[in-house]
Amino acid sequence: MSPFLVTRTLPEDATDAALRADVLKGLTEHPKTLPPKWFYDARGSELFEEITGLPEYYPTRAEREILVSRAAEIAAAARARTLVELGSGSSEKTRYLLDALTGLETYVPVDVSESALTQAGQALVAERPGLRVHALIADFTASLELPDTPGPRLVAFLGGTIGNLLPAERAAFLGAVRALLSPGDALLLGTDLVKDEGVLVRAYDDAAGVTAAFNKNVLTVVNRELGADFDPGAFDHVALWDAEREWIEMRLRSRGGQTVKIPALDLAVDFADGEELRTEVSAKFRKEGVRAELAAAGFELAHWWTDAGGRFALSLSVVR
Ligand SMILES: C[S@@+](CC[C@H](N)C(=O)[O-])C[C@H]1O[C@@H](n2cnc3c(N)ncnc32)[C@H](O)[C@@H]1O
Repeated sequence: MSPFLVTRTLPEDATDAALRADVLKGLTEHPKTLPPKWFYDARGSELFEEITGLPEYYPTRAEREILVSRAAEIAAAARARTLVELGSGSSEKTRYLLDALTGLETYVPVDVSESALTQAGQALVAERPGLRVHALIADFTASLELPDTPGPRLVAFLGGTIGNLLPAERAAFLGAVRALLSPGDALLLGTDLVKDEGVLVRAYDDAAGVTAAFNKNVLTVVNRELGADFDPGAFDHVALWDAEREWIEMRLRSRGGQTVKIPALDLAVDFADGEELRTEVSAKFRKEGVRAELAAAGFELAHWWTDAGGRFALSLSVVR
């Protein structure tokens, strides 16, 4: 087998059909919403990488700090021969796991972004002779089928991406991941933690405006894929903390009343002045909440590690 293989688990028209269904549903309901997975075309993936280096965006640095100090412990507990990573993006932080997992044979990055998978996969096989990379272009919220690779498997879900799922979606997602695993396999989960509101809001509303450009990129995706005529300049980026639900919301606020046409759906969408479209939630967690959500899906939290500042946590659950 070639050391780098990419498999598209859904036909291309399934992505198109899913985008149409999400845009039709999300822009005709009130309040209007779009799921965050549509941010990540090639430009969106680039913008996300830029975000990870911003001074305000602490999660990547905090999670990296934990991986640097704990990768050996994670590797010793997981003893994985296959590492599956959901929402792998650039696979940058994954390198600490790849270094520590000495018995690893295959890395399976899973992402909706083909450009991110291809770039990361090609770089990894060039850097690491002997490592097989089998990338899956797939939606981790849809039914996932993993390639037949040797166990034990370690499934990593880093970056706090689990916080982009709503609570019911998280429960379904964790249950589906548990169903993929066998005794001896493990789940490594990255969760951003509840903290000072100002720190949280700044992480999603940086001074350089990169997160604003990332947020508006979803409009460009809908324009390109569905022929819509969104003017990204006619929307303002909004990030706010919902203290009750303990999540950040990113929204796009309409500057003035406007009508957007989406020919592929034969749809015209009216926005009132100041009306907001929710594009992402990013839930923040506490240890007991993570433990309970894992337990409800059949996982037992075995290790909980945070960075020195207590901003971000990695938890490891080994399947019994
Ligand atoms: C917040 S970024 C995190 C990237 C990387 N894991 C990190 O920690 O820096 C989320 C990643 O998940 C991918 N993604 C988002 N929704 C997805 C979905 N439903 N299925 C598969 N990948 C998804 C995006 O393309 C992106 O690479």
